[in-house]
Order: sequence, then structure tokens, then C-alpha cells
Amino acid sequence: MKKIDVCLSPDLIHLYDLSDKNVVVVDILRATSCMVAGLANGVRSITPFADLEACRTMKDLGYLIAGERGGEKVEGFDLGNSPLEYMAAKVKGQKVAVTTTNGTVAIDRSGKAVRVIIGAFLNISAVAEYLKQKKESAVIFCAGWKGTVNLEDSLYAGALVEKLQNDFANGSDAPLLVQSSWQHMKHDLAGFIKNSSHAKRLNRLDIHADIDFCMREDEFDVVPVLSGQELVVNNSQA
Ligand code: MLT
Repeated sequence: MKKIDVCLSPDLIHLYDLSDKNVVVVDILRATSCMVAGLANGVRSITPFADLEACRTMKDLGYLIAGERGGEKVEGFDLGNSPLEYMAAKVKGQKVAVTTTNGTVAIDRSGKAVRVIIGAFLNISAVAEYLKQKKESAVIFCAGWKGTVNLEDSLYAGALVEKLQNDFANGSDAPLLVQSSWQHMKHDLAGFIKNSSHAKRLNRLDIHADIDFCMREDEFDVVPVLSGQELVVNNSQA
């Protein structure tokens, strides 16, 4: 039987052999929620960069450049890191280059995987169905916060494990851990997330609407996958 595993932080990813697995990168607040919202709303492609200055150079190649550090928009960039910005008319049909504190770092560290898939609550069922159709085992890779574990990515991992439980066996104790947290908290997700460290950080920056939006389940049915250096909507079932 295929296996599902969960990596709770980018600093633990070296412990996982990704070479024969699909990886679902998740950064609920907010990088992967932005990617899903943008690609579902007509953004042509999204190229992730771990390095801020490398991302900045993409402006000269005709890309919109997007990014944050510590949650705040990078000076001189076209977009910050709000899923609502990614759905604006000016982003439709554009190629976006993006750098974020944690999300794009996790994507960067997933390079050895068979496929890199972008997950969020916004597309959770579409990702679950996609993984079920593939023959490979999978790792859910939580972006966390600067190497530490965070609540919202761990809860997403628990929710996805729950959707996969009939098709995948657990690869370690981590799926059990996140699934039982999800079962405990899912009835008041907004209430628990409100107390998470990054929700508090975003609230200090007055970013309330993003948090509510990122908690919505199954708003979109797109499955973004990494193709070469860029994320595109999976159309081909590749
Ligand atoms: C990240 O990649 O660390 C986040 O998306 C930060 C943010 O909420 O802007």
C-alpha cells in the first residue's frame, strides 16, 4: 500500500527520502493559499524563489514580482502575500515571481520529489483526489515558521491525512499526531487558528480578511504542480 507521511518543518526535510514520492507543500498563512487562489483565477504561472534578490531580477523579464518578509510586502515589489491581491484583475494572465519567508523555502527544498504539488484548504479535496490517482507514496511538507512547527500547516496535514486514510498507510507517527489534532480542533478551526502565532503576527499587521479566506475549504478545484521552475495548473493529469 502507498504511504503518507508528514514533515512538520523545513529543518526536518533532510530526514525524508523524496526521490520516489509526491510532495505536497503547504503554507496556509499564506504562501500556498496565494498560489492556489492566483492560479485558480487565471494567473499564467508562478515561479517561486527562496532568495529575495533573485526574485527581484525577474521584474526585468516581464514578471510581476511578489513577496513578503515577516509578513510585510517587500519594498518595490508589485504584490505582497495576500490571496486577495492574487485574484485582482491586474494579475490575470500574468507570470508572477514570488519569494516568501517560509513557503518558497519549502518548495526550494522539495526539488528531489517526483512531483511538487501545492496544497491549501482552498483546494484540499482536489489535492486528495490527485494523490489517490497517483501510484507514488506522498509526504505533506509543512512550511512552518523559520524552521519551527506551526498550527495551521499541521492542521491542514491532519485534514489531508484524514481524506487519504483509506488509500494510504501511515509512514510514521506524524500522520497520527496531526490527524488527532485535526479531529480535536476541526469543529472550531477559526477559533484555534486565531490563537496561532502567525495569525497573531498577521493581525498585528491588520491582515484579518486573509486569515478568514485561507481557512475556506474547497473554494477551488485546481492542483498546482511544479513544472520545471514554475508552478502551473495541472491539466494533463501528468
Ligand atoms: C510565508 O511564506 O512565510 C508566509 O506566507 C508569510 C506570510 O503570511 O506572508
